[in-house]
Amino acid sequence: MKNLYYPYLNKYLKFYEWSVNNLEEFWNLQANIIPWFKKWDRVLESDGNFYKWFVGGLLNASYVCLDQHIFNNFNKDKVAYYYENEIGETKSVSYYDLYIMVNNLAKVLSDLGVSKGDVVLIYMPLNIEAIVSMLAVARLGAIHSVVFSGFSTKAILDRIIDSKAKYIITTTHTYRKGKVVDLKSNIDFIISEYKDIKNVLLFDRKKDYEIKELDPKYVVIKDLNGYNYINPVIVESTDPLFVLYTSGTTGKPKGILHSTGGYLVYVANTLKWAFNVGYDSVWWCTADIGWITGHSYVVYAPLALGITSFIYEGAPDYPDPSKWWALIEKYKITEFYTSPTALRMFMKYPLDYIKKHDLSSLRVLGSVGEPINPEVWVWYFENIGNKLCPIIDTWWQTETGGFMIAPFMGIIPLKPGFASLPLPGVVADVVDEQGNSVKPNEKGYLVIKKPWPGMMKTILNNNEMYEQVYWSKFKGWYYVGDYAIKDEDGYIQLLGRADEVIKIAGHRIGTFEVESAILENNKIAEAAVVGVPDEIKGEVINAFVVLKQEFANYKDDPNIFSEIKQTVREVVGPVVVIDKIFIVDKLPKTRSGKIMRRLLKAVLLGKELGDVTTLEDEASISEVKNAYEELKKALK
Ligand code: WTA
Repeated sequence: MKNLYYPYLNKYLKFYEWSVNNLEEFWNLQANIIPWFKKWDRVLESDGNFYKWFVGGLLNASYVCLDQHIFNNFNKDKVAYYYENEIGETKSVSYYDLYIMVNNLAKVLSDLGVSKGDVVLIYMPLNIEAIVSMLAVARLGAIHSVVFSGFSTKAILDRIIDSKAKYIITTTHTYRKGKVVDLKSNIDFIISEYKDIKNVLLFDRKKDYEIKELDPKYVVIKDLNGYNYINPVIVESTDPLFVLYTSGTTGKPKGILHSTGGYLVYVANTLKWAFNVGYDSVWWCTADIGWITGHSYVVYAPLALGITSFIYEGAPDYPDPSKWWALIEKYKITEFYTSPTALRMFMKYPLDYIKKHDLSSLRVLGSVGEPINPEVWVWYFENIGNKLCPIIDTWWQTETGGFMIAPFMGIIPLKPGFASLPLPGVVADVVDEQGNSVKPNEKGYLVIKKPWPGMMKTILNNNEMYEQVYWSKFKGWYYVGDYAIKDEDGYIQLLGRADEVIKIAGHRIGTFEVESAILENNKIAEAAVVGVPDEIKGEVINAFVVLKQEFANYKDDPNIFSEIKQTVREVVGPVVVIDKIFIVDKLPKTRSGKIMRRLLKAVLLGKELGDVTTLEDEASISEVKNAYEELKKALK
């Protein structure tokens, strides 16, 4: 098929040009996708690197997600979520059901004193009650801080201390690969350690778990069937909706703060553009609510649009690797959105697990969280989509709120491995150290050159860090922290992080968090971790540790390895698994004491000395050379 013409593509590209050249006019139109109590006075205001969207606009996120469908629409009895879990429980929850539950929970929270601006920590697995919790907090104009249920006590405590959360919502347990995972015991520990917590709402699942001890701070929730109505608290567009902690280059996780108006406008529009979801969709985004993907595309965007979603509380390959495909068949999923890690895991099993299921309901497939290798892309296209479904590779971040680079569904021709072009209103480029656009196919830094409504407000309690991390490398442009290339068609391919963030199975983990967890083991003096490529998980963690002198004899004790792994599991949570541990006498450092992590990585990957001397910013060549030789010797 030669000489093809794409008039819609031309039209779209023209429209895109218009959107970025008339940014405010463009977003002024798009903002009507959600209902407002009062229209904004100004689309955009800026003060240096701080941006405000839809200033003067008034709204409430739970009204946007629920009430509008109950009162103004025909959606009242429409299914908001189908839910299933590993032990075979199923639920079908209409918009009205969800609305009732949210009002009842909001009443409980409000009676306990939760009000506008309070931070409520949510430590829940991916289920209906978790979504109800987020919306109930939003109904009161309070700010939720969801902590992934695969994290454990240290992660929870760090987030409580930083956000000054006084309330927690949790549940007794969850299920993972046939096991009951206790969540309450982590919260028991938190309230014994940290006295400022006023109350903990505990969803009692009533099955497979016996509540033995109950601190008086607990308020047990058995059901949400009451007849309460709580007025949605009117907030400003720029008021925060939630804080979500994520890992950065150094230091503790940062509390990424998102506003209400800009965020909701952005996620609702982008879900429509990228996936073309519609009234008859059964949308399945497999992300957990503990990550941004769950916030934006399991909760806020689908509900704002009034579509039907499916959620599953359990592991993808339990009891066997056909589970997800069976669910797609059963619920007739129309758009399916997952991570390359999950796909790579399925690729290693025989195709029979897939082929025995009818996946013909699928219309669009999506990918997120890490670069998707072209082979995986093609496998997904052929085996899951039967060559009939576009693959929408969406590049974005916790900080960006929603999709930034992704093929506009049905219009942008696809290239395996490429996130393709920026969405309307988004200006992305790949630049060198000086900020000049690089030549086609040359590696550089991805930057965003104009503001967009989904952008973070700031880092909670830390405006300086916000400016320093995101806005200081290239003045006036948002620094992403990813490497990328742009090809001759302007298509963007992502090449992974340019900083010390590790992406395990698409989960964003900071070196600092893991290192400080390792140091909780009292035999360890120093630790450094790096991410190394892994065929399935994208990256895995390798750790270098130095034993304290008095424990030096443990060097030859094989138990030390499992002991360290166990410490990390307990402190950070089961999501962080250390693949290999190397015991060394010292860590390579620059004069100023910075660990040369890139050197550690280079040695692990078997790179030559010539390739590594320029890797470390602050180190002299001779320092790097010496460290390199020493490390190679130590690893022999
Ligand atoms: C990576 C997840 C390649 C990237 C939504 C980014 C991707 C980080 C893609 C943000 C993609 C996300 N292709 N890489 N389609 N999507 N990433 O905050 O390195 O958990 O900076 O947000 O994930 O991770 P976060």
